[in-house]
Amino acid sequence: MNSIVLSKKQFNDLKTMIYKASGINLHEGKLELLKSKIAKRMRITKKSFDQYLSFLYKNEQEVIEFIDTVTTNHSFFFRENKSIKYIIDQFNNHPQKQSKEFKIWCAACSTGDEPYTVAVQLKTLGLSFSIQATDLSHSVLATATRGIYRNDKLRNVPLPLLHRFFQRGNGKFTGFVKVKKEVMQHVYFQEFNLITDTPIKEQYDAVLCRNVMIYFDPPTSEKVTNKLYDSVVTGGYFAIGNAESLMNLNHKFKSAPAVPSLYIK
Ligand SMILES: C[S@@+](CC[C@H](N)C(=O)[O-])C[C@H]1O[C@@H](n2cnc3c(N)ncnc32)[C@H](O)[C@@H]1O
Repeated sequence: MNSIVLSKKQFNDLKTMIYKASGINLHEGKLELLKSKIAKRMRITKKSFDQYLSFLYKNEQEVIEFIDTVTTNHSFFFRENKSIKYIIDQFNNHPQKQSKEFKIWCAACSTGDEPYTVAVQLKTLGLSFSIQATDLSHSVLATATRGIYRNDKLRNVPLPLLHRFFQRGNGKFTGFVKVKKEVMQHVYFQEFNLITDTPIKEQYDAVLCRNVMIYFDPPTSEKVTNKLYDSVVTGGYFAIGNAESLMNLNHKFKSAPAVPSLYIK
């Protein structure tokens, strides 16, 4: 328990701010979480409650920092790999696969587990590729860029890939692994907010936007889906999380055969 008291109005104002800045739709069940995050940020910024709230509303960087603490960054290697495997198999059957560079965008990549999962499978096939990996949160991107993970995040990685593409830590890094440079060099990390940022003109053979729209309401998910549609090449892929659906949204993607969370432009 913490001693912070948030009035209904203060909670609703924070909820609106978070929604506008990130699309994340906080419900009342998150009140305690919000309070503990405020307490944490008050300690870090050395401000009183009132000082902190007015600082938060005036400071864009602090808003991102704050949102970072209320989002779920949970991810792990080879999570929901069925859609990724399907995409990679299609790339591997591409008639120009020897000369083509496949371009992928992981649009809410969290700590990097997802783009590295894609990268090791593409490397195994010897395909040429680059992965743009983005997230709203700079702290998860810092972890992603370091490429060091606790062993348990890699428990689904097939052993041959684990041995080939990851370096086991020792000494103070016992219990951790590091992604090898030959994998990391294919992945470019960058901050990108799905709600407030406009995608660059680039088009990708596949865009992954997985396990983030679950925090958005339907109108926001619809806007994000249509924004990302323009970033997919014709015939390219759009993957969402297994617990997500585009079912009641207006969009132009077609469903991919046999993989429920995968769509084709
Ligand atoms: C649960 S993780 C999903 C990670 C990965 N895609 C996976 O499926 O394992 C959700 C990520 O979405 C990011 N996120 C939340 N709102 C966002 C937004 N508006 N723009 C970009 N990223 C956002 C969070 O920072 C978090 O890292």
